[in-house]
Amino acid sequence: MSSKLIAPSVLAADFANLQRDVEMVNASDADWFHIDIMDGVFVPNISFGMPVLQAISKHAKKTIDVHLMIVDPDRYIKTFAELGSDILTVHYEACTHLHRTLQAIKAEGMKAGVALNPHTNVSLLEDTINDIDLVCIMSVNPGFGGQSFIENTYNKVKQLKELITRKGASTQIEIDGGVTNKNAKQLVDAGADVLVAGSYVFKSKTQEETIKDLKAIANS
Ligand code: DX5
Ligand code: ZN
Repeated sequence: MSSKLIAPSVLAADFANLQRDVEMVNASDADWFHIDIMDGVFVPNISFGMPVLQAISKHAKKTIDVHLMIVDPDRYIKTFAELGSDILTVHYEACTHLHRTLQAIKAEGMKAGVALNPHTNVSLLEDTINDIDLVCIMSVNPGFGGQSFIENTYNKVKQLKELITRKGASTQIEIDGGVTNKNAKQLVDAGADVLVAGSYVFKSKTQEETIKDLKAIANS
């Protein structure tokens, strides 16, 4: 079984010390940088945009996993490729022509991800799963860090894993929101491949240790 990955969410970093926090992730056991882009329309919050991602990219030495919580994401696919995104995830709920969007992301040389809000059923991906590199299951309602984990997520992960296996797809399953040492093992057992963790990592006094412990739990 391939190893389970940890993706610290930079949304919870100290923005006044962004380079320091990026270097902490570089030096840690973490695998990816998770970057939350919010537009204040798709979600009721605005995070940060292109100039900040550009600054992060300059220092980041690991995979850049961009989670777009924006309406009409097709407008910015090329821009995010140019900014160094390795994986570009769009929301199912924000895409009228999801299949076309996925092709456009791949045409720019990135891996294509689809995020599902807590109310969105995984069966809606029946016809696209073989075109999706990563499904991000939202385990909180998107828009804010530090929210509590929605327990129904375990069922969704199992359903998605079943769909991926049945279709012979190689899609990775990512969990985003409220991830801690308390739910990591159960998520991985249900089929998760990548755990995003924001507050749990950055609010810790021993951030590198916390990442190391989370990764050990996920791979135990
Ligand atoms: C929520 C974001 C998450 C968030 C996770 O809208 O997509 O990536 O940063 O933060 P925590 O781990 O604090 O729930
Ligand atoms: Zn996210």
